[in-house]
Amino acid sequence: MRIFLIGFMGCGKSHEGKRLAQKLQWPFLDLDAEIERNEKKSISKIFEENGETHFRNLESKYLKKTVGYKKAIIATGGGTPCFNNNIKWMKDNGVVIYLKTPIEILAARLEKEKELRPLIANFNKKKLNIFIKKLLEGRKSYYEQANMIFYNHSDSDLVEELSGRIV
Ligand code: S3P
Repeated sequence: MRIFLIGFMGCGKSHEGKRLAQKLQWPFLDLDAEIERNEKKSISKIFEENGETHFRNLESKYLKKTVGYKKAIIATGGGTPCFNNNIKWMKDNGVVIYLKTPIEILAARLEKEKELRPLIANFNKKKLNIFIKKLLEGRKSYYEQANMIFYNHSDSDLVEELSGRIV
């Protein structure tokens, strides 16, 4: 089984995915990291030099390569389910879990880590909040197509919740 973790930037897909993979002793893949490793370029550089459409095509290409793993935990990028019909592909090829996270938690995390993310790198706090609200609203209909929604609050534990159900 392949498990695809989806959700907005900063929702903890990579962090939780690594923990879950460790607990299950399954391979862990981070889609952004796969793109960077294979293309030998950071995500920021790809956006800057080749543009978002090129990045979205690479994202779909490397997403599809995950079929090479019979079982794996795959942390996708925040936009992955929202482009190129990737959400359908993920559901056809695995189980999709949406890490639904309160907007305040996303905003607080992204404020600290925004440099690595080209979509938000240049925003001040106020603009960042407005941007997150708007983008989340637009992406909601994709995220909510997941097979399962996990409510990712500060006292919830994805690993605890899932590891017993999977093995
Ligand atoms: C993006 C999210 C990023 C990365 C890229 C675009 C998005 O991944 O794929 O910067 O469109 O939301 P994370 O969700 O891991 O930050």
